[in-house]
Amino acid sequence: MTQDNNTSRRRFITGAAATAGLAAASSFVPTRFAIGAMAKVKVGILLPYSGTYAMLGNSITNAFKMRIEQAGGKLGGRDVEYVALDSEMSVPKAPTNTNKLVKKEKVDFVVGPVHSGIAAAMAKIIGPREGPIMIVPNAGNNAITGGFCAPNIFRTSFSNWQPAYPGGKVMADDGHKTCVTIAWKYAAGAQMMAAGKDNFEKNGGKVIKDMPIPFPKVEFQAALSEIASLKPDCVFAFFSGGGAVKFVKDYAAAGLKDNIPLYGPGFLTEGVSKAQGEAAEGIKTTLHYAADLDNPVNKRFRADYKDAFGGDANVFSVQGYDTGTLLSQAMALVKGDTGATKELISFMETAEIIDSPRGAWRMSKNHNPIQDIYLRQVKGGQNLVLGVAAEALEDPGAGCKMA
Ligand code: BEZ
Repeated sequence: MTQDNNTSRRRFITGAAATAGLAAASSFVPTRFAIGAMAKVKVGILLPYSGTYAMLGNSITNAFKMRIEQAGGKLGGRDVEYVALDSEMSVPKAPTNTNKLVKKEKVDFVVGPVHSGIAAAMAKIIGPREGPIMIVPNAGNNAITGGFCAPNIFRTSFSNWQPAYPGGKVMADDGHKTCVTIAWKYAAGAQMMAAGKDNFEKNGGKVIKDMPIPFPKVEFQAALSEIASLKPDCVFAFFSGGGAVKFVKDYAAAGLKDNIPLYGPGFLTEGVSKAQGEAAEGIKTTLHYAADLDNPVNKRFRADYKDAFGGDANVFSVQGYDTGTLLSQAMALVKGDTGATKELISFMETAEIIDSPRGAWRMSKNHNPIQDIYLRQVKGGQNLVLGVAAEALEDPGAGCKMA
């Protein structure tokens, strides 16, 4: 059920069935939009549909649209028009693509991106404006809910710090003293490796070498040879999508898997563990989702996703789904009035998503999820939960002047 909580300002967001109830229960009276009320709500989407992150973009889009379909296929009673652009993971093209959505298409909301560099480019354009509201369904760039935070920018995924920081302690707890980090050389890789390293060293470990790999290159042989000669106790890595498949397979083929355990934020094996096959078995990662989370929402979500799209759901589809939940609930509250920016923002910043497949989470004052980070291990081709690595973890939000 959706309700105002007397003891806090938070709004409790629940499932598809509750959307209609929320609209009926709301006391919000739209004032500005009687004319054109029947026009479609325009949702601009900027995600990768080609290249190494294509699987991520498709997973987010599928589940985002599935969630809105489950809420009756409308936002606040209005039909929805999607304008989706392939980001091509290109930072140089990001300003043009963003302006296409904001200025040319005049979308009401922007959903995207996956890539941290693109997120920064988008935030610089959208943050200083009053609208549209931007919801980030993946890109973890710490600055989006840190130095670039803005009233109209929300994230439903994670900050790069969040899934990486607990991983440092996991490696130390497993008895490792030395580690090498290896990651794509851009904000996501740099921020995740820094967070993991920080917590590894706080817990007695030492990172003996950082190995940045140009994005989105997948030639790992020279780095793997160097790892073999450095002989660290463990390796901490960030790759995702197609690049993660190649890295994990190359790591095993180089004979490192059984000698130097591989760890990382869960993107390393998420959505790709089946394609990685035997090479991924046993890898431990930390992330805000695991396939076998034992809650009814997750079970229903995974079954619905499989029915609709044939493949398995993953963390990216969870993030897309939760983006759909946040948007449909907010639009129900304002009865479809996309001009009610203040009310939409105030709803989103006090949101608590109770029925997320990842488990309940709530929005921080910097507009980033406060959420559990799970320790997982690949078993039988699935990322299965071993425990909670960090409970209700909140990004520090360094540099955000909003709150
Ligand atoms: C990022 O660029 O923020 C990112 C991309 C893929 C997975 C996780 C983070």
